Amino acid sequence: MNKDRYAINSSEQPSSEERLCPRISIGIECPFGDECKFSHDIENFLANKGPDLGRRCPVFEAFGSCEYGLRCRFAQAHTTANNAQIVDEDKVKLSEQEKKTFNHISKDMLICLRKKKYQYPRTKAFEHSSAPKRQRIQTGNVDFRGKTYLGPLTTLGNLPFRRTCKGFGVDITCSEMALATNIMLGKQSELALLRRHESEDIFGVQLAGRRVDVIGRATEFISAECNVDFIDLNLGCPIELAYNKGAGSALLNQPTQIERIVRIMRYVSDCDITVKLRTGIKTGNNLAYNLIPKFERWGAAMGTLHGRSRQQRYTKYADWEYIGECKQVTGQIPLFGGGDVLSWEDYWDHLETKKQCDGVMVSRGALIKPWIFREINERRVWDISANERLDILKDFARYGMEHWGTDTYGIANTRRYLLEWQSFLHRYIPAGLLEVLPQKMNERPPPYYGRNDLETLMASPSPKDWIKISEMVLGPAPDGFTFIPKHKSNAYED
Ligand SMILES: Cc1cc2nc3c(=O)[nH]c(=O)nc-3n(C[C@H](O)[C@H](O)[C@H](O)COP(=O)(O)O)c2cc1C
Ligand SMILES: [Zn+2]
Ligand SMILES: [Zn+2]
Repeated sequence: MNKDRYAINSSEQPSSEERLCPRISIGIECPFGDECKFSHDIENFLANKGPDLGRRCPVFEAFGSCEYGLRCRFAQAHTTANNAQIVDEDKVKLSEQEKKTFNHISKDMLICLRKKKYQYPRTKAFEHSSAPKRQRIQTGNVDFRGKTYLGPLTTLGNLPFRRTCKGFGVDITCSEMALATNIMLGKQSELALLRRHESEDIFGVQLAGRRVDVIGRATEFISAECNVDFIDLNLGCPIELAYNKGAGSALLNQPTQIERIVRIMRYVSDCDITVKLRTGIKTGNNLAYNLIPKFERWGAAMGTLHGRSRQQRYTKYADWEYIGECKQVTGQIPLFGGGDVLSWEDYWDHLETKKQCDGVMVSRGALIKPWIFREINERRVWDISANERLDILKDFARYGMEHWGTDTYGIANTRRYLLEWQSFLHRYIPAGLLEVLPQKMNERPPPYYGRNDLETLMASPSPKDWIKISEMVLGPAPDGFTFIPKHKSNAYED
């Protein structure tokens, strides 16, 4: 869980004296004057800026004004001949009415968290009350049963990616895993993970941690200050960093600790509390079957079981039979299953034919082919063309720039997240080229030629080719740009 994973290369990141002041950039006076740590020299900035990447600015088009001003790499779309910024007042009013994203935490709130001034009345009440009083009304806000669920994906399950999947009809989305400690400490990068797009109509946030008091506080904060439908507790993360701190899957053999955590989460929040777990820690020693029957009593509204142990990581297929056995003992709440679903056949087989779960979570399948949700809903294969796949990337680039920004840094971020995603996307084998459908998760495709050059390029396992594809949707990468996929090192998928 390297949270600085997207700290951009120092070669791409000029010092602040070389960066144009954000105020000057949008044509307002800067109160810091000569003291400002940013440059106020517009001429010099523009002389070194590099050409615009296009004539239309995605931020300006979406919101009616572009907060990046002269720094925007599409600045010509909203800049007059004398460098003033154009504002489309009607559109600004419209986009203010229909908020596009939620869960922006204000500066004042950040300071409040950092100075430990935030009051956690419910957590404190819970801590000071005796066991029998620790009951609050059970809320069953969300009807999870039978809905499609895009699983939480660190780094890859960012807001622009989830928005892409919403476009293909997924029902439930979840944030990347956030560390409860960092939420409580007011770390901006962690709080940014809570952002929700307006299209996400059933949205949850996932928390990882070990301490009851810390998870309680993070849950109370999110429930009170953010717009979420559920908060999910991570009991599955296999990563050493989490495991060694006793978080994620390490909690699986501490049922008493899990009980305390779920109970406090239930007590301090108004949204649903859900739990996501693996089968166990060591292969051959499954723990889920004994844990799952207790979730309902502790106050959880739903559980998701990934059918692998921590030790197993991503080797062998997920044990769906075991998921089916666990479903028998879940009680009244729904149990979702997850693991290896890469086709609409897999999906309906687990849900309807074998009745192994009350809903299916799809994670890597959505990274490899985000249109899987349309295939699931329509119960048929979509032999999507390479051009249609490129259109998906174009949309992602637009969503990415809306989210991360249209200045050089925002575009660099968008490119890095796109490239990260491409390390999964290239694994898709076009349905029209397969002799036997459907494609299976653990079958690595042999090298093949696509039906045109773009399709062949999209199948390349080489990051150099991914960069080429990124240039088709984001313009040229900086000179000397290189890329090594991060997820390879996060051990989520060895
Ligand atoms: C790159 C990557 C990141 C992941 N991040 C998370 C995460 O933050 N939280 C979590 O509970 N699971 C995470 N997972 C696990 C998935 O949500 C899912 O449980 C697992 O991949 C099995 O489902 P699948 O075969 O459909 O991918 C991640 C998986 C991958 C491949
Ligand atoms: Zn300034
Ligand atoms: Zn712009």
